[in-house]
Amino acid sequence: MAVNLKGRSLRTLLDFSPREINYLLDLARDLKRAKYAGNEAKNLKGKNIVLLFQKDSTRTRCAFEVAALDQGAHVTYLGPSGSQMGKKESIKDTARVLGRMYDGIEFRGYKQNDVEELIKYAGVPVFNGLTDQYHPTQILADFMTIIEQKKSLKGRKLVFFGDAKNNMGNSLMIGAAKMGMHFVGCAPKELWPDQNLINQCKTIAKETGAIIECEEDPMKASKDADVLYTDVWVSMGEPDEVWAQRIKLLTPYQINMKLIKNAKEDVSFMHCLPAFHDLETTTGQEIHDKFGLSEMEVTNEVFESKHSIVFEEAENRLHSIKAIMVSMI
Ligand code: CP
Ligand code: NVA
Repeated sequence: MAVNLKGRSLRTLLDFSPREINYLLDLARDLKRAKYAGNEAKNLKGKNIVLLFQKDSTRTRCAFEVAALDQGAHVTYLGPSGSQMGKKESIKDTARVLGRMYDGIEFRGYKQNDVEELIKYAGVPVFNGLTDQYHPTQILADFMTIIEQKKSLKGRKLVFFGDAKNNMGNSLMIGAAKMGMHFVGCAPKELWPDQNLINQCKTIAKETGAIIECEEDPMKASKDADVLYTDVWVSMGEPDEVWAQRIKLLTPYQINMKLIKNAKEDVSFMHCLPAFHDLETTTGQEIHDKFGLSEMEVTNEVFESKHSIVFEEAENRLHSIKAIMVSMI
């Protein structure tokens, strides 16, 4: 049977079969080609899409806005302040209001439960643009980029360094399990993903041929890797007090040239961004003043090296988010 995602929501990639994920990745590639060729169809003409952001964003917001506009849709942006949501109006009521006006809802926030509440009550497709638990739209862009660089996903070894129990670690592990990849979450034990999620991914892996591992030793983990991936050590919404502990725990897990040289010769470096690789940000400067670090999860040398594909990855947020909206709205 043909793949048909119309009316579906994107809660987490756990809800999608490998075939459906491949369909989204193929569509993203086709939409990218159409945009480059200048012959993109306006599949979302006359549609209205609302973007709800409880947290900041550069890539996700811009990708949703440009993708919608490219496809002929109209967009409303509601930022962390300025709407009634959460303060005077529940998520449930907000969902029932917005579902009567819009054809699709993107939500970035804290609680995964809020996305699930929106999905339950909106009556239109809802797209998870990041919660504390998952970041599924990022994974589609990441996998699209890996396919562009390495031709395939199956069997590729992707090692995630850092806070592996957070949205990126969780979502990469799920995506890797679905697509038959070799995923290693490399972190101290206290930052490994939740054991229930690891077990769930290992069950999926039995069917797809994926390998799901957690490892404390960065040299062991990076050996023969195709992709070394990292993310910020402290995520949006976490208190500033966490920095001291994370720096202590994660400094040995910084991606540097030693790890790159230990991986495959053509290893790629990936990061969902934003990244702390220099002192050109206010947070980076504050951390430097307080803890003396001038780069954190990745060295500037790796970030700027030929191995780094972070800006291809960032661009692909646009094409993959477009595929999500075109196929589900
Ligand atoms: N990677 C990502 O989601 O970036 P933004 O926070 O800028 O959207
Ligand atoms: N883990 C990060 C991802 C940012 C795209 C955060 O939640 O802040």
